[in-house]
Amino acid sequence: MSTPTQTSTEQRAPSEAELHEIAKILHDHAGIVIAPGKGSMVQSRLGKRLRALGLPNYESYIALVSSESGADERRQMVSALTTNVTHFFRENHHFDLLRKAALPTLLERARAGGRVRIWSAGSSNGQEAYSIAMTLAELATDLARLDIRILATDIDPKMIEHGMHGLYEAAQADAVPETLRRKYFTEEPGGQMRIVPALRKLLVFKELNLHETWPMKGRFDIIFCRNVVIYFDPEAQLRLWSRFESALSPGGWLFVGHSERVPLSGRTRFVSAGITTYRLPEAGPKAGDQKWH
Ligand SMILES: C[S@@+](CC[C@H](N)C(=O)[O-])C[C@H]1O[C@@H](n2cnc3c(N)ncnc32)[C@H](O)[C@@H]1O
Repeated sequence: MSTPTQTSTEQRAPSEAELHEIAKILHDHAGIVIAPGKGSMVQSRLGKRLRALGLPNYESYIALVSSESGADERRQMVSALTTNVTHFFRENHHFDLLRKAALPTLLERARAGGRVRIWSAGSSNGQEAYSIAMTLAELATDLARLDIRILATDIDPKMIEHGMHGLYEAAQADAVPETLRRKYFTEEPGGQMRIVPALRKLLVFKELNLHETWPMKGRFDIIFCRNVVIYFDPEAQLRLWSRFESALSPGGWLFVGHSERVPLSGRTRFVSAGITTYRLPEAGPKAGDQKWH
């Protein structure tokens, strides 16, 4: 039942016109497309923001996030409207491929004094990046001596903060095989599970909107961008595949989500390297000759 202090905002979904405005701001800022008919989802997620700010209706909220001074609230809005679902070792076949095909050569290079860089782009709260780190640590007991780093980025500042703390609910850590859980987590007093410092040291978390400039200087050997571009429009997806191509070293690997595909139409040099996995040709005269399957 309504209380006298409740505003009408709490009782109704945004109108179609307001939803359109909100969708446009989200798309312009984050490249994310809200499907039509998602008014109640927007209401349930943004209603909290309206209440926190004491705003009477969506009209005033839209005015705020459209204004120059509304940059902070735009970040909050994106954070509220993004889908952050993730889990440890999600799409486990990618971690098998990492272990068997991608990492052994890269570890050889690192042991010879080279650097290896891995990027989890759209990392949510870090479970994907920590799964990569555990896979690496299982292959390399000498990891601490090697120049290997994992960058984890997401547009959502709350997810980045979560990842930095490396603290997860016991039920989330249950997705990690027990032998790995024992090695790479410690149990906190409330029953939560924290990633051990040796693994946390491998990771750097940064807030980054994939549609803006990427400040990273060096190239990556592996990029995971899974279950992220599915929320973008087709043109934004194509732009991103090209940018990932430029951000990868020769022979670099790109892992995408189960319902995402990089078109192999010649727009990029990616070739298929397994299920939802792509690779750039190695540099040198033999480029294009190698088979990755
Ligand atoms: C469904 S989660 C996927 C997490 C992880 N990659 C996985 O597959 O488990 C999608 C993530 O993409 C992030 N995201 C959405 N739009 C983004 C953008 N424009 N730039 C960077 N990250 C974005 C969201 O904040 C969310 O955490």
